[in-house]
Amino acid sequence: MPTTTDRLPAAQSGSITLGGDLTVNRMGFGAMRITGQGIWGLPEDLNAALATLRRAVELGVDFIDTADSYGPNVSEELIAQALFPYPTGLVIATKVGWTRHGPGVWQHNASPAHIQEAIEGSLKRLRLERIDVYQLHVPDPAVSFDASMETLARLKEQGKIRHVGLSNVTLEHIQRARKIVPIVCVQNRYSFSDREWDFVVDDCEAHKIAFIPWGPMAQGREANEVMRRIAAGRQVSTAVVSLAWLLRRSPVMLPIPGTSNVKHLEENLSAAAFQLSDAEFAALAAVVPKPYWLRA
Ligand SMILES: NC(=O)c1ccc[n+]([C@@H]2O[C@H](COP(=O)([O-])OP(=O)(O)OC[C@H]3O[C@@H](n4cnc5c(N)ncnc54)[C@H](OP(=O)(O)O)[C@@H]3O)[C@@H](O)[C@H]2O)c1
Repeated sequence: MPTTTDRLPAAQSGSITLGGDLTVNRMGFGAMRITGQGIWGLPEDLNAALATLRRAVELGVDFIDTADSYGPNVSEELIAQALFPYPTGLVIATKVGWTRHGPGVWQHNASPAHIQEAIEGSLKRLRLERIDVYQLHVPDPAVSFDASMETLARLKEQGKIRHVGLSNVTLEHIQRARKIVPIVCVQNRYSFSDREWDFVVDDCEAHKIAFIPWGPMAQGREANEVMRRIAAGRQVSTAVVSLAWLLRRSPVMLPIPGTSNVKHLEENLSAAAFQLSDAEFAALAAVVPKPYWLRA
């Protein structure tokens, strides 16, 4: 029977179940943009960032993506500050694998020792006893991928993690990881205008695990003409069309658009109920976007 929460904006996207036991709305929220410039330090407007988090949950968002490296620590701390005690059913997915040494500076570290230490910090900042979804942020070229995954598997056995996810990975990584521990989601850069990981989306769909596209609105890159025409014709923003395209691209798609602005949040969540017509979807699908590295 439908409940009042089924009518909330984020619920209009339908739901997806992670790891067989965590059902969330398919429109989530990315909490990277609630930090300062260069994903470093506190946001310029702390109250706006806290209000955005609270409004996201009010509007039905029950999947929030973050990482220990956002701030660093700031994103996880603000999530707890805004939302703890958490509403039932809120899934917070955090990540490990980057360390930060200044604005815009990201350094790999997915060594077993670092992961074991980092999870304690995430648990403390998020005020949790177990992290629902813990994602390897990026494979560390200086560390055996299997060793990173075995560490995550051990933390799952110890009950510190409910489920394991991956980010910025190839199909080969996913296949290797699956031999070590069940994988419930893959987070790679993907949007209408950036489809390098199309085959990973298809693999996630085949295995019924979530694909979480980061940079879901193409990070400000020019929307193409077809996209602009559809957005203008339907009197919505290209952000809404981009997100609606993602939701229709695959039933395992779980977009996490990021913002620290309530107006943008509300606009993004409106995409959950926005239906592209078959003709619009076909027109967008027929466009083969120029790879971003070939654009002027
Ligand atoms: N796994 C990874 O390596 C990785 C990498 C990057 C991001 N992520 C995750 O993915 C999430 C989303 O990625 P992203 O933040 O890079 O990209 P995004 O969501 O595509 O874009 C965010 C940018 O777009 C702006 N924006 C958001 N909604 C808008 C709207 N309706 N109209 C106009 N501008 C809008 C935001 O600024 P305002 O704040 O002004 O709205 C922000 O600058 C992040 O929050 C993070 O959780 C993961």
